[in-house]
Amino acid sequence: MKIGITYDLRIEYLALGYSEEETAEFDRPDTIQAIENTLKELGFKTERIGHVRSLAKQLVKGKKWDLVFNIAEGIKGFGREAQVPSLLDAYDIPYTFSDPLVLAVTLHKGMTKSIIRDLNLPTPDFAVVNTEDDIKKVNLPYPLFAKPVAEGTGKGIDSSSKINNRSELITVCGILLERYKQPVLIETFLPGREFTVGIIGTGGDAVAIGALEIVLKEIAQKDVYSYVNKEQCEELVEYRLVEDSMAEKAKEIALLAWRGLGCRDAGRVDLRVDSSGIPNFMEVNPLAGIHPEHSDLPIMCSLVGISYRELIQRIVESALKRINIHVPSLLPASRLHKVSRKRKYTESVPATQMVLQF
Ligand SMILES: Nc1ncnc2c1ncn2[C@@H]1O[C@H](COP(=O)(O)OP(=O)(O)OP(=O)(O)O)[C@@H](O)[C@H]1O
Ligand SMILES: [Mg+2]
Repeated sequence: MKIGITYDLRIEYLALGYSEEETAEFDRPDTIQAIENTLKELGFKTERIGHVRSLAKQLVKGKKWDLVFNIAEGIKGFGREAQVPSLLDAYDIPYTFSDPLVLAVTLHKGMTKSIIRDLNLPTPDFAVVNTEDDIKKVNLPYPLFAKPVAEGTGKGIDSSSKINNRSELITVCGILLERYKQPVLIETFLPGREFTVGIIGTGGDAVAIGALEIVLKEIAQKDVYSYVNKEQCEELVEYRLVEDSMAEKAKEIALLAWRGLGCRDAGRVDLRVDSSGIPNFMEVNPLAGIHPEHSDLPIMCSLVGISYRELIQRIVESALKRINIHVPSLLPASRLHKVSRKRKYTESVPATQMVLQF
């Protein structure tokens, strides 16, 4: 079985003149290498495809793969994460992770929250500010939180994202609208503990494998898991695998959100606790980073005894199940993968299927 790999390599975009921030969500060469090596260890043939334009060229030439392992984030527009899966659907080639609808909707945090609210899951009240004129229509109690509606890796997020009054709201919205050329999501500030929950599987087969608590150190930017705190996480952030009742509640909500949004194969849900002690959904990452040592999901897997190889194997198995291929010959998963706490945050964020029933 031949598996193609689609991805956006950060160094390629930097060489083309894109900025550090514009490429923050893209992958490092060692992530692609790790995926490729692991797929080979599992007995698959692999072929690197690259980004969406490279995929388009190869599809037009008649190239085919039995499956595509897709971690391409895309560069332009709200549909950027949906571009590779859309092309693959057009050529009837199966792929890992979510479909175009889910990837487009979950990239837009406001659209996603409307669905989460419809699913009766806890998420802060919110407003989407499209223009400066919309700011005066925001009628939510302070403190609030402001972020670009469709970015990841903490882009546009720092200590000023916590908003205490109308004058700060006007200033911060103005800056974000101008800088990111997209709407701003305003929501009630969540003051409590923060968790990221790792999920493997699809629909009824999905499981929440663990909850990592994000603990900001004294010297970190206050209150928020910001761009800077993510970039310098080795010094500024402590990650704890937690299993208390609040973490269990976070896992339960995350799994319901994952299934309700129709996310597939593996990813992460980010939550934070509100003033009444309830974990609230902030966002879902259906294309979570999978660098073996630096990304949250593989780190969490290691901490709960799931090796990198088992993670990749379970992602492929989950994708192949959609096309009714079961691969009993996949090698038994090794649980010997070494864990390194040294990490660099290179994730993207990321939209949805209307109320799906599983
Ligand atoms: N409503 C909120 N209340 C308090 N803090 C918030 C709120 N929304 C976001 N944050 C803080 O900002 C951080 C980044 O927010 P969010 O997860 O939406 O952004 P992101 O850049 O897409 O993240 P990722 O790197 O996971 O893709 C959160 O981890 C949290 O610390
Ligand atoms: Mg997040």
